[in-house]
Amino acid sequence: MTYAHITGWGKALPEKILTNDDISKLVDTNDEWIRSRTGIRERRIAADEESSATLAVDASLRALEVANLNAFDLDLVIVASSSPEHIFPATASIVQDGIGAINAGAFDILAACTGFVFAVNMAAQAIKSGSMQSVLVVGAETLSRFVDWTDRNTCILFGDGAGAFVLQASEEPGGVFSGVMHSDGSGADLLSIPAGGSKEPVSEITLAEGNHYIQMEGKGVFKFATRVMASATKEALEKSGLEAEDLSLVIPHQANTRIIEAAARGLKLPMDKFMVNLDKYGNTSTASVPIATVEAVESGRLNRGDKIAFVAFGGGLSWGALTAEWTGPYPIERKVPQKRYLFLAKVRSVLLRALRVVEGMLWGHYGRDRKL
Ligand code: UT7
Repeated sequence: MTYAHITGWGKALPEKILTNDDISKLVDTNDEWIRSRTGIRERRIAADEESSATLAVDASLRALEVANLNAFDLDLVIVASSSPEHIFPATASIVQDGIGAINAGAFDILAACTGFVFAVNMAAQAIKSGSMQSVLVVGAETLSRFVDWTDRNTCILFGDGAGAFVLQASEEPGGVFSGVMHSDGSGADLLSIPAGGSKEPVSEITLAEGNHYIQMEGKGVFKFATRVMASATKEALEKSGLEAEDLSLVIPHQANTRIIEAAARGLKLPMDKFMVNLDKYGNTSTASVPIATVEAVESGRLNRGDKIAFVAFGGGLSWGALTAEWTGPYPIERKVPQKRYLFLAKVRSVLLRALRVVEGMLWGHYGRDRKL
């Protein structure tokens, strides 16, 4: 039997910090309100030269470093994002090129903040079925670019960042045990970016109405979230034959401390079994679960052999959970140091681009001169 182990993890966060006090200079709010209603103290905001893909590449390279793996060995790159680089091409394609995953297929998953949990579940299934050996899953966001900085209902919540996992096949028991995925499209209007897609392409009207920004019915999302966080975790536990008490740690989507507290009550677990770091980063959507995981490892709260659950909810509506046994990196020898590998991959990418330009010129010339 093949198991899907999480063997690498990495995060990338912009340097710029935006505090609650900073936001109170933009809209009618204050630090006390934001902290007591959400738990958030500050969030990170991407610099002009950063984007979802650049953050994703940084997080991915760190995850590959931990896994002792070169991107050459990846079979698949999945990026989950609510703020992708473009409608197309997939952000995953840009990440695939950026890390030199020359043998990997690459695609995006869109399930709002639940996207990362869904993507890890899919990656684990691909590995367990025997069709893939190594998969990179990334959650990456620059939601600050889609926030209306005059809307106090939403601008206090979101932050930028990326997190990544490497999943690898092994015959040793462990890794991702079970996953559950749910959706309810009847609630799609509760949390959305209405314009910019095929239904409402960006126009002067959509820009004037601010429909290219995140729109949210906060109370509705809050009620839904408090209902599904515990139920999804219970379902995933049941599927893997575990009890809530078996869990060393729950790593939930970092949206609001009150939502996490409701999940803790629903699971009858103390809050110290929950990883919470939303005070520092706000809601980083798909990136929140992997960033929290990396910080759980860094702070010694997540160790080899621990039974854990990941749980998330988001627009769609969507929600899902996973249970796993934490593996840690495999003691394998890296074939080529990452820096050297990356340099070679970059040279390859530049040569391929140049070749394409030359090819285009030749074909253009040929096309102009040829006589049928
Ligand atoms: O990944 C999923 C992303 N989304 C979420 O997780 C959102 C889930 N929802 C929430 O976290 C909460 O609903 C919010 C934090 C967004 C809002 O908290 P709330 O306790 O549901 O507040 P509310 O919307 O009921 O607003 C209460 C009051 C209102 O004033 P009135 O009508 O009572 O006079 C709001 O106008 O607070 C006011 N308010 C604010 N005041 C200061 C709303 N936003 C702010 C603000 N600062 N930023």
